[in-house]
Formats: sequence, C-alpha cells, structure tokens
Amino acid sequence: MVEKNLSFPIKKICCIGAGYVGGPTMSVIADQCPDLEVKVVDINPKRISEWNSKNLKLLPVFEPGLDQIIKRVRDKNLFFTTEVDDAIKNADMIFISVNTPIKSSGLGAGEASDLKWVEASARRIASHAQGHTIVVEKSTLPVRTAEVIQKILCSSNKNKDKFGNKTFSVLSNPEFLAEGTAINDLEKPDRVLIGGDNPDSIQKLKEIYLNWVPSDKILTSNLWSSELSKLTSNAFLAQRVSSINSVSAICEATGGNVKEVAEAIGLDHRVGKLFLSPGPGFGGSCFKKDILNLVYLCKQFNLIEVANYWQQVIILNDWQKKRIYTNIVKSLFGNLSDKKITILGFAFKSNTNDTRDSPAIQLSIDLLNEDANLIFNDPKVTKEQIIEVLKNEKSNFKKDDKNLNKKLFFEQDIYKSIIDSDAIILITDWEEYTNLNWQKISNLMRKPSWVFDTRAILDSKKVRKAGINLWQVGEGNFKR
Ligand code: NAD
Ligand code: UGA
Repeated sequence: MVEKNLSFPIKKICCIGAGYVGGPTMSVIADQCPDLEVKVVDINPKRISEWNSKNLKLLPVFEPGLDQIIKRVRDKNLFFTTEVDDAIKNADMIFISVNTPIKSSGLGAGEASDLKWVEASARRIASHAQGHTIVVEKSTLPVRTAEVIQKILCSSNKNKDKFGNKTFSVLSNPEFLAEGTAINDLEKPDRVLIGGDNPDSIQKLKEIYLNWVPSDKILTSNLWSSELSKLTSNAFLAQRVSSINSVSAICEATGGNVKEVAEAIGLDHRVGKLFLSPGPGFGGSCFKKDILNLVYLCKQFNLIEVANYWQQVIILNDWQKKRIYTNIVKSLFGNLSDKKITILGFAFKSNTNDTRDSPAIQLSIDLLNEDANLIFNDPKVTKEQIIEVLKNEKSNFKKDDKNLNKKLFFEQDIYKSIIDSDAIILITDWEEYTNLNWQKISNLMRKPSWVFDTRAILDSKKVRKAGINLWQVGEGNFKR
C-alpha cells in the first residue's frame, strides 16, 4: 500500500456507528478537543434522531455524565447525522465503530464475527474518501481484520485527487470502556492502545488523545497485537467472573461465603479486588462474543487445548445461569404456574440501559416456560424494550405468543412491583435495590415469600428479619 507522509493536521474526524461506543467515545473526544470537528454517522435514522433529541433523557444510550457532555458540545463541534458519504468525504480520520456480532449462519456460525457491517463501512470509505485518510478500527475485530480493510480500501479507484492520489492508512485503536462507567473510562483510561505500522498516522491519533491522556498511558504496538489485546483483555475479565462464580457454587456447597472468600483473594495485590463479584453470569454484548471469537481463532490454528480452555469460561457462565434458575424453581415447590415473580433489574449491569445478552433474558424465558407471571422493574430499561427483547426470543418459548402478553407486566415503582408476589429475583446490581424497606416488602408479598439475590448485594439479616426466605448467591448457610 502507498503511504504518504502525513504533514496535514487532523481537523475533521468521522465515526461510523452511533452506538454504545461511537456515541460516548466521540462525545468525549469532541469535549476534550474543541478544535476538532467530530461527526458521528449511522445508517439508523431513529438512532441519529434520538442522539439529536432536545430532551436529553431520550438519548439512545444512558451513561452517567454523558448528557452533560452532549449538552456542552452537540451542534458546536459534535454532530450526529445520517449523511454518511458526506462525512466520509470531508474527514481526515475515520473511526469504524460498528457492531460486530457473532455470525448466525454460514461458515463459522456461532463463533466467528460477522464482519458485514465492517466491510460495508470500508467499502463506503473506499468510495467516498478523498486525498489521504487515516482509518481507525474502533470496533472489536478478529485478528488480521486490518488486512481485510486495507485490501478493500486499496482496491478503490474512485475520487482520486487531481494528482491521482487517494491513500489510506489503517490503525487499530480498540475501545476498553465498560458500560455504566464509560465517561470515566474515556476521560481517565487505564491505557489507550494504538496498533499500526505507519508512524505518522500513529502520531496523529496519539496527538488527539494527548489532549487529555498522559503520554505514559498511550501504548503503541503492531496491528495484530492491538487486535489480539482487545479480545484477550475481555477474555481475562470474563474468566475472572466465571472463576468467582465457580467459587460461589463451592461456597454454597461447603458453607463458605463467597463475599468473604473474594475479599481474602482480592487483598493479594497480585490478584486485585476488582472483578470478583459473584453474579447471575456475565452478560453484555461483548464478553461472550469476544471469547467465542478467540475460540474460533484458536481452532483455526489448531490450538484445540487453548480453545477448550477459553470455551470453559462460557460453559461455566451458562451453567451459573441454569443453576440459579433450577434453584428458584425447586425453592418454589417445583411449580411456578400462575405464581407472581418480581424481577428487579433487566439491564445486564447497573448504570446502563443496555439489555444485550442480559442474564435476565434467559431467566425470564425459563420462568415463562414454567408458566410464571413476571413483573419487571428497572430504573432505565423501558417496558417497550423488555417486551421487544422477549418477543425476539419467541422461538425459545414453549407457549404461544398470545399467552406471553398476558404474562408480562412492568411497574416503575419498586414497591408496587412487589404487591402479591411470591418471589423477588434481584438480577441487576442497581444501587436503588440495596436500600429497600424489607418489612414493608414482606407485608406486600404473598406468603411464603422468597428473595433470590443473584448479586449478593442485599443485607441478608434485614431480609430474613422481615420474615422472608432468602437465597443469596455464594452464601453457604442456606437452609433448605
Ligand atoms: P451498537 O450496536 O450499539 O452500535 C453500532 C452502530 O453501528 C449501530 O447504531 C448501527 O446502526 C451502526 N452501523 C452498522 N453498520 C453501519 C454502516 N455501514 N454505516 C453506518 N452505521 C452503521 O454497537 P456498540 O456496542 O457500540 O459496539 C460497537 C463495537 O465496539 C463492537 O465491535 C463492540 O464489540 C465494540 N465494543 C463495544 C463496547 C461496549 O461497551 N458496547 C465496548 C468496547 C468495544
Ligand atoms: C466489558 C469490559 O469491562 C470492557 O473493558 C470492554 O471494553 C467491554 O466489555 C467491551 O468490549 O464491550 P461491559 O461488558 O460493558 O465491559 O461491562 P463489565 O463491567 O465488564 O461487565 C460485564 C458483565 O460481567 C456484566 O454482566 C457484569 O454484571 C458482570 N460482572 C462484572 C460480574 O458478574 N462480576 C464482576 O465482578 C464484574
């Protein structure tokens, strides 16, 4: 590929994909770099109009602090638009931040990433970019995707300038933000990773981050290390969650308490105390897909033992979800028919409105298949979102769709959601759920009443004192 010396300064950047990464990431860049013009483009007009909504409560992504940044920079140096080609044409640097889910059919189905949105973005850039453009992979991608992008970009002859120039340089700059803490993660990142083989392009991207990130936190590497670092970072984090969840099961069997064990493990500074909270199994759009992708990569290189090692992280996660469901059914005398169950939390974690791969989804399907009535409460996920998510799972329901509508309820007031319930299942670790009046709740529930705390965040003494049966993940003194 022809590389030219990049003497021009970066003035305009474009981000393809206005999702959970593109929106917050570009908002922070625009906020920290007032001299840059930042355009976030998407093929989904509804999403763009939500980003442009005057009412900041209607932004498509909920992240603490995001609305204030949007208020400061939107329509000043940050723009959300569906004019994709125009934004590409004018940009000096283009971030690809589109979705990369697992392929649902064809070669590699269920494991490999579906790169159709990445390829479509690359083709559009190839057609409409002008002069020299730095293309940055922000999406999480299989190793060597940069090569594919480079090939697509280089095959384009359209829009060459009058000297016949049209050049590209591809960088990998994976995003490490976690939802719920995205703004803090972006403003004070542990590290920024830039992979590439063109020093000028790397420097240009580094200069953007240097506006607010200390230089010792900006790492550079080759493209393939960068792509692989992202996949393996997520795999390491997910592995910790599966590890502590496996310990939660051992604690329940032996009489230990996972909170005490996690504290003891985490105080070793070599281990560290973060990411040791037991739960209903990890959710979110990335952990599972990125591990599946890693497993696929290992199999491609015939590293079967390595593939099996990482696959086990997912197997344990699925098992954790299943064992919690089994425990709930058994506790409720093996019969959920027409019982009322309150589900506290539908988001995959607290401080986000994202429900992708939330453990609440599989559990809801399992409970509905047991004929239970479900009443949902979530501070940020709407009734419409929950119904849409569950309807998309239609094929997993044993009952027909018509019955389903009669079994789903939503109540924004936590206490009202509990009236006449046989059981409460706490799924998301929202702060709101940690300070409830358990005596009041006990009076509202049908007896015998149950609480299943899948996050181990409730004060077990208070719940039990109120006369409620409590199961807490990883608590070994559960009396059957
Ligand atoms: P998302 O689904 O929220 O957003 C992707 C957006 O891209 C969608 O709005 C979609 O309409 C748009 N899009 C798809 N094809 C397009 C095209 N050709 N032109 C214009 N727009 C297009 O996804 P996300 O959660 O933002 O994730 C994006 C990438 O970032 C994924 O690869 C993911 O693995 C990675 N990632 C996500 C997170 C996270 O917390 N969600 C964190 C780090 C990395
Ligand atoms: C994760 C990573 O933390 C980010 O670094 C990464 O950029 C991102 O994936 C991505 O690539 O998408 P995210 O999925 O948003 O971020 O949220 P996490 O805080 O990692 O939580 C993931 C899941 O694990 C949640 O369901 C959470 O409840 C669960 N979890 C996390 C636990 O059950 N216990 C823990 O101790 C930590």
